[in-house]
Amino acid sequence: MKLLDGKLVSQKVLSEVKEDVEQLKSDGISPKIAVVMVGDNPASLSYIKQKRKACEFTGIEWEQIDLPESTKHEKLIEVVEELNKRKDMHGILVQLPLPDHIYTPEVIKAIDPKKDVDGFHAYNLGKMFLSTDFEELAPCTPMGVIKMLDEYGIDVAGMDATVVGASNIVGKPMSTMLLNRQATVTTCHIKTKDLKKNTLNADLLIVGVGKAGLITADMVKDGAIVVDIGCNRVDGKLCGDVDFDEVAAKASYITPVPGGCGPMTVACLMENTVIACERLTKEKDL
Ligand code: GUN
Repeated sequence: MKLLDGKLVSQKVLSEVKEDVEQLKSDGISPKIAVVMVGDNPASLSYIKQKRKACEFTGIEWEQIDLPESTKHEKLIEVVEELNKRKDMHGILVQLPLPDHIYTPEVIKAIDPKKDVDGFHAYNLGKMFLSTDFEELAPCTPMGVIKMLDEYGIDVAGMDATVVGASNIVGKPMSTMLLNRQATVTTCHIKTKDLKKNTLNADLLIVGVGKAGLITADMVKDGAIVVDIGCNRVDGKLCGDVDFDEVAAKASYITPVPGGCGPMTVACLMENTVIACERLTKEKDL
């Protein structure tokens, strides 16, 4: 079994981003991201801290806009629209989840697709359908998985890949990216009749559900590549959706949690911010 070391690969990506940022700054351009946080969800605050640290490392400027839990939907849209207008701002990230009284799809829709560094806007999600060439400003978590597989020389073409989880920001774009790379993709979700049948068939198993202990060794094919996107806190300890110790004994490659997909997501966010900045300042089309 080999570990897919997201921490290590993310450091490489971040170092490359840092060089790009230095180059942009020497051209008089300072990449900048706005992070909008509504309320004080502890998991969100912890994610934001990691993103901020990555900005400090890469030299990307950081502006955090903290709004109270009671913020009205219309007010949040106004904040986004102001950020859309600002010439000095290249990336806009609205931390999710938002409070229930705010309609999240409308908020994401309000973000200028050119500044959508999360890759959640329908424009950026939609163009991913075309091919790998159109995956710019793609969602950071699936992009991080692809980058990590690339780094380990894993070519998914022809593989039977099973993605467990079908969210708009992880499972669906993950499946699309694998299909773009000619894997044979199965996407499982809450209504899937026989999860184990589908996971057992997988050469590449990617799990992002948020349910600790969901994937046990009996559900995994010998020699499979296992990517765990889950991020759960059990008794104060971080763990993924895969029973790591058991499954690691069967897998050819496996990601740890923490130190797998999480750092790769943050690294891809930094990369997206540089891409957005270059596109906006050089007026290139997406
Ligand atoms: N909440 C959990 N993950 C993410 C993410 O990648 N982006 C945003 N905006 N919110 C999140």
